[in-house]
Amino acid sequence: MITDNRPLGVFDSGIGGLTVVHALRRLLPGENIVYLGDTARVPYGTKSHGTIERYTLQAGALLQRYDPKLLIIACNTASAHGLPALQAASPVPVVGVIEPGAEAASKADGAVGVIGTIATVQSGAYEAAILARAPGKAVHSAACPLLVGLAEEGWLDDPITVEVCRRYLAVLPEEVRTVVLGCTHYPVLKASLEQARPGTRWIDSGEVTARTVGSLLGASLGFHGEGRGRLRILLTDAGSRLQEVGGRFLEEPLESLEVVDL
Ligand code: DGL
Repeated sequence: MITDNRPLGVFDSGIGGLTVVHALRRLLPGENIVYLGDTARVPYGTKSHGTIERYTLQAGALLQRYDPKLLIIACNTASAHGLPALQAASPVPVVGVIEPGAEAASKADGAVGVIGTIATVQSGAYEAAILARAPGKAVHSAACPLLVGLAEEGWLDDPITVEVCRRYLAVLPEEVRTVVLGCTHYPVLKASLEQARPGTRWIDSGEVTARTVGSLLGASLGFHGEGRGRLRILLTDAGSRLQEVGGRFLEEPLESLEVVDL
């Protein structure tokens, strides 16, 4: 087995990307991870293409200082707008969450839905990636901006959240039985989403991305040696509720937090 003890560099617009770190740590517990959350500038989901691309490049440049073997853009919005630019600029491979999510969606039966931020949906990135794999597939997208706030508030399984989910999901045609959770925050809302649209198959883009990362490490990049990997969390701003909200996404307590400047 190939080994490489360098860390995985994970980037997100804020702390929602800790859902992706959770999936990575479950699947690849030995890997060291350096996580960068741009908490000073979140949300990205309401910003324009040029700004999101520039922020993504800045984040990638900062993570290079930690000598990563692979960069993972955990943020769907940054993957939709910044992946090609960061791939062109980075000396190490870069993966986003959209291609793995689209790969899983392309194999689903029938029409599929995609939910995400306004910027992710407007980019058409999921649709393009699904159609590249499954030409002619019916893809229906819905922007669900309020869900990020509800997830951060901790209203995960709550009648108000169920109602908001129902209203957003109502734009997806009846025949859509598979929906991609195209935003870092949505996996923690699964209970409310399920009540709003029972019987739907939800594709967690973070979970499928963790599997893609596992395959890349196994095929060529190499795994870290033994033991539980270390998680280092870098943030561009440390506001008051980070420990509580971040812990909810990571599903473990947030230990060391370091504040960095981009
Ligand atoms: N991380 C973003 C995403 O996955 C959601 C939060 C934001 O708008 O920055 O699209």
